[in-house]
Amino acid sequence: MNDTPDTLLYLADPYSQEAEYGETWREHLSRLAPDIPFRVWPDEVGDGDAAAVRWALVWAPPEGVLAGFPNLELVISMGAGTDHLHGDSAFPSGVKVVRMVEPTLTQKVAEHAVMSVLMAHRELPMYLDQQRRREWVQHENFMVAADRRVGVLGMGPIGMAISEKLRDLGFPVTGWSRTPREIDGVLALQGPVGLDVVFAESDILVLVLPNAPGTRHILDVGRLVQMPRGASVVNVGRGTLIDEPALLSALNCGHIASAVLDVYDEEPLPAESRFWDHPRVIVTPHIAGLTNPRTASEYVVAQVRRHQRGEELLYVAEGF
Ligand code: GLV
Repeated sequence: MNDTPDTLLYLADPYSQEAEYGETWREHLSRLAPDIPFRVWPDEVGDGDAAAVRWALVWAPPEGVLAGFPNLELVISMGAGTDHLHGDSAFPSGVKVVRMVEPTLTQKVAEHAVMSVLMAHRELPMYLDQQRRREWVQHENFMVAADRRVGVLGMGPIGMAISEKLRDLGFPVTGWSRTPREIDGVLALQGPVGLDVVFAESDILVLVLPNAPGTRHILDVGRLVQMPRGASVVNVGRGTLIDEPALLSALNCGHIASAVLDVYDEEPLPAESRFWDHPRVIVTPHIAGLTNPRTASEYVVAQVRRHQRGEELLYVAEGF
């Protein structure tokens, strides 16, 4: 008989920097929900504690660890994506998974995407390359936002926020998503024909899709060819969305003008990747939306409270 109250577990890959955030999460979560015991795996989970764990806040848990909590009912992803959990072949069946969807994270990724679109629009990759060579050359370009069509692939909360901000800057925006969306002043498309339109008519393509069935290499050689000559690619979704060698070829032959990338097929981006020093690629190390424990704690507590009250959970991830 275990009479420890229902417990929230913090479970990060112990070798990653997320493991160190445990204390920061504790500080915020215990302020918001002092009644919910909080334990950090592995140090604070002894024999006999596993049965009390009902909720887990996780990022990339080592394979099989979650299966060791017999009363676990809800996993809250520390990130907007949940693909890092699909690698766990022993993921316990019947456990629900919710994505991290909170306003600060959405805002951060949207800011990063807007910056990336503006960089592509104002040809920053080319000017940064000139700067490295101390080269003062002005390229005539009179295009303003209204002249540059932006496509946004993936219209979840983050894709919608990106679309709204780009629309407000004056870009003509077309969004594509599996399920219908309605946003003022944004053309929202679905289905295979909609996808063809987005590829064919995007001067700047923003990828915000998750790594999910059907999205792997959605930007492959065939789609790159469909894109207008001189188009740019922005990726804040997942590296798996892009066939990277195909993108490099398209950059090298000039069909694609530039790429602003935050995510990669392999992370950390290997030292030998051609992206690092490509003159028309901007590389950032998956920082578009780092989860802030202070603001995200409110979301975590709200989901746990919903679960405690038997209410419907928000942003339940598919495929678990
Ligand atoms: C990070 O990429 C996330 O899923 O939030």
